[in-house]
Amino acid sequence: KSEMEQDLFKVLVTEEQLKRRIAELGGALYERFAGKNPLFLGVLKGSFVFMADLVRACQLKSDVEFIAVSSYENATVSSGRVHINHDIQQDISGRHLIIVEDILDSGNTLAFLKDYFLTKGAASITIVTLLDKPARRTKAVTADLVGFTVPDEFVVGYGLDYAQAYRNIPYIGVLKPEVYAGQ
Ligand code: PRP
Ligand code: MN
Ligand code: MG
Repeated sequence: KSEMEQDLFKVLVTEEQLKRRIAELGGALYERFAGKNPLFLGVLKGSFVFMADLVRACQLKSDVEFIAVSSYENATVSSGRVHINHDIQQDISGRHLIIVEDILDSGNTLAFLKDYFLTKGAASITIVTLLDKPARRTKAVTADLVGFTVPDEFVVGYGLDYAQAYRNIPYIGVLKPEVYAGQ
């Protein structure tokens, strides 16, 4: 086992399951957006792996943009404040946005971003999240497309981190509680 795998309690979503589900999501997006030239907007850092696979699973004529925000710092619980670490680099007014997230948890991040992009004049906003953890929701925000609904466990891998590590695990795993004990 690799040094990262030793910190995992179990595998929650395998590479094969990810691949199959992302193909379905890509197909659903294609049906909704063919001919509309949507803008895929990835929320860094967590979405970078999912974004790369999703845009290739969806052969739409489209472009990609990124915004970097964070609210967890190094904690296991959201601070509730969303910081923009790197803003978008183009005018998105009149564009159909597909916001791509790795996980919808408390909802703080997506509630903030939805507001932020509506203010900037987006024509429509569609939220695609790989994982949805409804048990922890404190803001009334729902995703239009969800890859997998997950229980209230500490998930890492496929872009998701704990204290910035584990993003490069190629599947979704659950961290051993002793790894984040004391937080
Ligand atoms: C994580 C995750 C989502 C957000 C979800 O990002 O990638 O963006 O939290 O949680 P919420 O619904 O409670 O807001 P984080 O702030 O850890 O930054 P990162 O993407 O750089 O890891
Ligand atoms: Mn994130
Ligand atoms: Mg994080």
